[in-house]
Amino acid sequence: MEPGNQTRVTEFILMGLSEEAKMQPLLFGLFLFMYLTTFIGNLLIILAIITDSHLHTPMYLFLSNLSFVDICFTSTTVPKMLLNIKTQSHIITYEGCLSQMYFFMFFGQLDNFLLTVMSYDRFVAICHPLHYTVIMSPKLCGLLLLASWLLSALDSLLHDLMILRLSFCTELKIPHFFCELNQVVHLACSDTFLNDVVIYFVIGLLGVIPLTGIFLSYSKIISSILKMSSTEGKFKAFSTCGSHLSVVFLFYGTFVGVYLSSAATQNPMESAIASVMYTVVTPMLNPFIYSLRNKDIKQALKKMIS
Ligand SMILES: *[C@@H]1O[C@H](CO)[C@@H](O)[C@H](O)[C@H]1NC(C)=O
Repeated sequence: MEPGNQTRVTEFILMGLSEEAKMQPLLFGLFLFMYLTTFIGNLLIILAIITDSHLHTPMYLFLSNLSFVDICFTSTTVPKMLLNIKTQSHIITYEGCLSQMYFFMFFGQLDNFLLTVMSYDRFVAICHPLHYTVIMSPKLCGLLLLASWLLSALDSLLHDLMILRLSFCTELKIPHFFCELNQVVHLACSDTFLNDVVIYFVIGLLGVIPLTGIFLSYSKIISSILKMSSTEGKFKAFSTCGSHLSVVFLFYGTFVGVYLSSAATQNPMESAIASVMYTVVTPMLNPFIYSLRNKDIKQALKKMIS
């Protein structure tokens, strides 16, 4: 059933994380701090890797790609939120909302694929150390990156096109601090069944396949570490995986946690607050996890700063 009124919606209202006036300066300060920390932390990682030629190996090049993607990922949501608090306006245009959703999903998906590619890289390094440079050739690395970019672009395009077929009528308030796909879909006054099917199918597929890849890589890595005879070798192998594994747990753990908790709560504002974890906190912590645990990165940072 099509709604009678076919005028095109031109804007949405982003409710933010709190409607209370006295919370606004606190939210502004907190998010500005987290955004700057994410930006500077990840930028330092990129610069440290680019300026140190010892770190021009696939593992670190993927890491600097990850840092770049993390900066872009938070930049899709936080600056707009800060601007809305500052100007005391909650408005986002229809096109703005669509492009925010596009880039948010694009960079989020890219993070997901990069973590998978990085686990494959660790698998080759630990299980096939003698063939590492042959297998992880610049050509394969480039192909893996290209495939990740293409798949992420197609995935976000699909979701955006699915939104374009919906019509929106009167309910335009998004109970979130950015245009979150699920929230936007459920404001529509046309039938959203097909959208839900596509969302669950694609998120399921693009979540399960990378996670299975990571799981398989790490099960091989762990069994091959356990077979090593020297404790020193075990320690060394494990320390190169430790940071990556921590980031994997943080990324998927917060994502799954947020989805389980929003399934449990009926209050959309609570799930918006929970989503701050994977949209803002995870990209902020990644550089710290790497720089605190990794000797090479620490050295490169010191060299660059001095
Ligand atoms: C991403 O990785 C590729 C190849 O692995 C590398 O050539 C490129 O410099 C990296 N980009 C960034 C921004 O780190």
